[in-house]
Amino acid sequence: MTALTPMSFVQTDIDQIAGHAGRVAVTVDATGKMNPSARRINKLTKGALERLVQSTKFTDLKPGDVLSMGYPTGMAAEAVDVVQLANNADVHDLRKAGANLAKQRGEADLLVLTGGLRKSAELCFGLAMRDYSFEDNKSKGKPRKGSVTVMASTPDEVKAAAEPLLAIADGAFMTRDLTNEPANVLTTTEFADRLAAMKSIGLEVEVLDDAKLEKLGMRTLLSVGQGSASPSYVVVMKWNGGKKGTAPLALVGKGVVFDTGGISLKPGAGMEDMTMDMGGAGVVSGVMRSLALRKAKANVVGLVGIVENMPSGTATRPGDVIKTMKGDTVEVINTDAEGRLVLCDVMWYAQEQFKPAAMIDLATLTGAIVVGLGHENAGVFSNNDTLCNAFLKAAGAEKEGAWRMPMGAGYDKLLESRIADMKNIGGRNGGAVTAAQFLGRFVKDETPWIHLDIAGVASVKEETALAPKGATGWGVASLNRLISDHYEGE
Ligand code: BES
Ligand code: MN
Ligand code: ZN
Repeated sequence: MTALTPMSFVQTDIDQIAGHAGRVAVTVDATGKMNPSARRINKLTKGALERLVQSTKFTDLKPGDVLSMGYPTGMAAEAVDVVQLANNADVHDLRKAGANLAKQRGEADLLVLTGGLRKSAELCFGLAMRDYSFEDNKSKGKPRKGSVTVMASTPDEVKAAAEPLLAIADGAFMTRDLTNEPANVLTTTEFADRLAAMKSIGLEVEVLDDAKLEKLGMRTLLSVGQGSASPSYVVVMKWNGGKKGTAPLALVGKGVVFDTGGISLKPGAGMEDMTMDMGGAGVVSGVMRSLALRKAKANVVGLVGIVENMPSGTATRPGDVIKTMKGDTVEVINTDAEGRLVLCDVMWYAQEQFKPAAMIDLATLTGAIVVGLGHENAGVFSNNDTLCNAFLKAAGAEKEGAWRMPMGAGYDKLLESRIADMKNIGGRNGGAVTAAQFLGRFVKDETPWIHLDIAGVASVKEETALAPKGATGWGVASLNRLISDHYEGE
């Protein structure tokens, strides 16, 4: 597991700045006007900082960009990282600055002088989020990571503001680790075990095994896992930080630890990427973790369906008809459209068991959403404008791309089956929408619902604003914001 870099918050101290042996970060605004910390460094370096910030090298920078001064005279530091930032900088410039510092520092101990930054906690968040690399399966072990010390005139205030943000980063790290992990390591049982371990941070965790799922009638979920040697699970995580008796928000995640396609086998090229097909369950797990760590005042229940989609003598065949927990029957035309078969049972169970105030499911559900939206936006489908707009606003504030897609009866019709209540695919065209329509059939009228198709954003080949290549943790911050804005009553 990748731990968050520990961060300590200390009172500004001129001797500590002068004697710090790693890197020292200081902020200067675009005009070159210096805050007291910058003035101290300028004095220590006999005017070198001032000369630097007056050069075009500095004046050409954009907010959040960093220019480094190597081996500054008068200081013990190996470098001073000069960050272009105004005191009232925008949240995303602050996060970008933090991310740049994380990339820059390598293994060095970093001392961050917050100067007069109004929201320095956001810089800490960017730093924490970007200070991630997935080293668990490298034989040389983890590289030594230096410490991060945040220096401020009111360190307790900065710490108090940073703590809930660091809880979100910690949750996002869990999402990324789960999503990056190969399927021979993150087996279905290992996944369930990692979630059960979150009891130690105050979550209530219940693991439903094959026998229990069979009893509950989750036949379509089980039909996806039945070709695998690994057992299937549903894991229920509860965080009851809100008023007793308030209906919870339900988060439901697709947790296919590996998707071969089953008997409708996927082509070989790129199949290794299907280790990330549990990304939706990864986000649900990460959100639950951050809610517990920041002791959110909300009632939220997270449910994940954990299965492996393998071809074998016991696997589901194309043409099989399976009964869902709801009671509707599904003709499985393509065993590679398995995510919806997992989700429909878990979503039904979530509503029957918890009567949620709203339900949001997350899934790496379709290649079609990647064709439509690329890697910039997740597809958002909803039966409720109020809930949907609230989510889009939260995602916008976190700069996690999210774009609403249409739904409608015309799409739904494409799921009609000759021999069962529905087929599990609607054809190539509008594939992300027909997948959403399938899920929509398992949403009760009274349940406000959002489906997030995160196939394009859960794991990407290029680095993003706050993550290196690979799993992004997309959605953990947005869902936390949605919860704090709308589900955390006073
Ligand atoms: N897990 C895949 C979707 C996916 C594709 C996720 C690319 C991440 C990146 C899903 O189970 C799947 O195979 N969907 C099929 C559905 C089709 C058979 C209707 C697809 O999109 O091709
Ligand atoms: Mn599939
Ligand atoms: Zn899949």
